[in-house]
Parts: sequence; C-alpha cells; structure tokens
Amino acid sequence: MNSFATLMARGLPERIFGCLKRMGREGDRLGVGVYLVGGAVRDLLLGVRNIDLDIVVEGDGIGFARWLARRMGGRIKRYDRFGTALLVLRPGIKLDLASARRESYERPGALPRVSKGDLQADLYRRDFTINSLALCLNSARFGKLFDPYGGRKDLEEGVIRVLHKQSFSDDPTRIIRAVRFEQRYDFSLEQETESLLKEAVAGGLLSRVSGQRIGDELILILKEKRPLKAIKRLDEFGILSFLCPGMKVDEELFHQIEGAFSRLNFLKVEHWTVYLLALVWGIDLKRALQFARSIHLPKRVSALIEDSRRGKGKVDRLLQLSHPRPSQIYRALEGLSSEILVFLLAREAKPKLEEYVGIMVRELSKVKLIISGNDLKELGIPQGPIYRRILDRVFEARLDGKVKGRADELGMAERIWREDEV
Ligand code: CTP
Repeated sequence: MNSFATLMARGLPERIFGCLKRMGREGDRLGVGVYLVGGAVRDLLLGVRNIDLDIVVEGDGIGFARWLARRMGGRIKRYDRFGTALLVLRPGIKLDLASARRESYERPGALPRVSKGDLQADLYRRDFTINSLALCLNSARFGKLFDPYGGRKDLEEGVIRVLHKQSFSDDPTRIIRAVRFEQRYDFSLEQETESLLKEAVAGGLLSRVSGQRIGDELILILKEKRPLKAIKRLDEFGILSFLCPGMKVDEELFHQIEGAFSRLNFLKVEHWTVYLLALVWGIDLKRALQFARSIHLPKRVSALIEDSRRGKGKVDRLLQLSHPRPSQIYRALEGLSSEILVFLLAREAKPKLEEYVGIMVRELSKVKLIISGNDLKELGIPQGPIYRRILDRVFEARLDGKVKGRADELGMAERIWREDEV
C-alpha cells in the first residue's frame, strides 16, 4: 500500500475503508475514475476524524451510485439538479456521490451553472486549496493523491488560500467558510486571500447571497467546538455588523456559556442555539427577531430569543428573594427550555441560580400531583376555572412539602374550595 492508502486504512473505520476499496473495484469494472475528495481528504491528511465522505466520479455519478446500491446492497436518493446522489449502504454507511463537474457563475452569489468536467476541473471549482485534494479509489491507483493546486503544502503550512481571484465573488459564503476553517484548524489566511476577502466584504458581496445560505454558514460556525474564535474573527472583518447592525461579540459571555455547558452537562442542550442567543443579546428584541428571520433561522430559535428576554425578568425576580420556596423556584423556571436556563445561568453567573436550576431539573420537574380533576368532581366541587386554581395551589403545597400523599392532597383541595366558598 502507498502511504495515503495506509493513511486511509488507519484513519477510517474498517467497514468504511472496505467500502471505499470495493467502490474503486466497481469503478474499474465500469471504466470510470472514482475519487474521495474534499473535507474527508483534508482531514485524513491532518489526522482528524471525519466520516463525511464525498465521492467524485469521472462519469455518471448518479448512475454509478445506482450501480453500487445494486451491487453492494443499499439505496440512493437522487438530487438531479446537482447531478449528485446520496448512497446509503446497508450497514448504514452514507456517501455523497457526484459527477465530476465544472461550474460557472453568471453573477456573484448566484447558484452556479454546472457542466460536465474532469477531476481537475472539479477540484478547481472548490473553495480553498486545502479542500481541493482527491484520493483515487480505483484499484491500480488506490490511494494516489491528486493535488493540482498545492493543497497539501498549504495544509502543512496551515494556510487557507483560494484557488483564484474570483472565488469569493463566485460564492460569497466562502467568506464565512474561510473564517471557519482558519479558526477550526488554527490556520491563517494567506495574504492575498485575506485581501480578497476584505475586498469582498467591503464590496457588500454577502448581500448578494440568500439569507438562507448565510444562516446555514453562521450555524456551522456556531456548531464548531469553540465558536468564539471564529465569531471574533468575523467581527474583526466587519462581518457581524454587516449581517446585523449592532451585533457584537461579548467574549465574557461566550466563555461563561462554555463553562456552563461543562458544569450543567446533565441538561440536554442544543449548543449552537445558546451561542446564537449570546450573539443577539445586545440587540433589541425586534431587530434580533428580524435578523433571525432574515437568515431563515428555524422558528424555534426565534422563540428562544423571545423566551430569553422573558426568562430574564423571571430569573431577576427569583434572585431578589433571599430564601425562595421550592414552589417559587418552580414558577420562575417552569417552561424555560434547557437552552434558556444555560444561557441565563451563564449570563447571571450566580451560584444561587445554578443551585435553583439543579433543584428544578433534578427534583421539582419530577413532582406530579396524585389527585386530578376527577377527584375534585367526586368531592362534589362544581366544574369551572376553580379546578385549575385548586390544583395549582395543591401542587405548590406538594412542591413545598406541605402535603404528602393522596389523602393530604384531597384534604387540602377540599379546604381551598370551602375557603373559596366563604
Ligand atoms: N465546497 C466549496 N464551496 C462551498 C462549499 C463546499 O468548494 N461553498 C466544496 C469543498 O471542496 C468542500 C466540499 O465542497 O470540501 C464539501 O463541502 P462541505 O461538506 O460543506 O465541507 P467540508 O469541507 O466537508 O467541511 P466540514 O468538515 O465543515 O464538513
């Protein structure tokens, strides 16, 4: 095996490696060139685990995917418009297959016009040299590295470099991607690439891309392990304020959120949404919501933005109480999602609040009343809004440990009703 074949054998799970070898043999049979390309090759060379596999076929990518599904057992999902297919092989291995293609852009930010091309053209249409590497999978050349644009050297030197001057205007989302890769791997932007990026920002190229695509890239940044560095870099290039005037990074808050994630690991949290809350915290609610809509963030994120403001008021009131009862803790924190709890905790940085959240999550949220409306009916209480009032009060008494067991609950319900009648 050559050194890159060994790298694949060592860096990929055995099942996947076996799959790639088999794909190469199937390519031989059909007489088409088959290559592993893009991020997976980059990460193999860097020694980073990545099983997001993109395959380029010099020939009919969809046809080849269909052939593989039949021969190896699996199914495909076709994306005709892009000439790509998702191949899901039986043991659950997923691969993206595409025909090698050339792309041309009619205007900045537009989706590309696609035509057939060879591997070299396919690599040329890509964002950065480090993502323009390919490993051949065909048997005779298995593991041969194709590196027409110097990607390997740039990987070794830690450089993010575009392939040509038009790259950012062809696809302005690359402005955000450049920052993401630079910060993820602790690389630097090559000098000319940095100038081109600055020109692209100054020229307002980002406004030519759909909000959805900007949103997708911003989410990818927020999903990085430690997004603060990349967010700071976006700010440095004036990209944050371009995306939303007034948007700034609160470094302290980001650090506190990182800390809160590790301390509160018993909470199930969608991390990136908490960072998003931090990003828009300094902006008034109306504009923050407008921003979220403009980049097509999911509706649940807009709801979180609203809840974070509402939750702050509730938490502030709770923190003013010197010894809140469990029921007061419950009422202040009920309905706030884990994301909001982590965010507010990080923001407040108050040990008391952390204690309350712990009590809420571990104990109070598990408390259930034994009695229900049916029991109130059996007590002869006429149905109406009073049911909610009674059950709420009994529940709070349960939380505060003032009633225990069914008989206690019933007794209290009856007392409340009688008092109410008086
Ligand atoms: N690509 C590109 N321009 C873009 C998006 C993607 O040239 N705007 C190319 C790159 O070659 C990239 C490949 O498509 O390597 C796959 O894209 P994607 O899955 O988004 O990124 P990865 O490089 O796999 O990075 P990640 O580790 O973040 O998934």
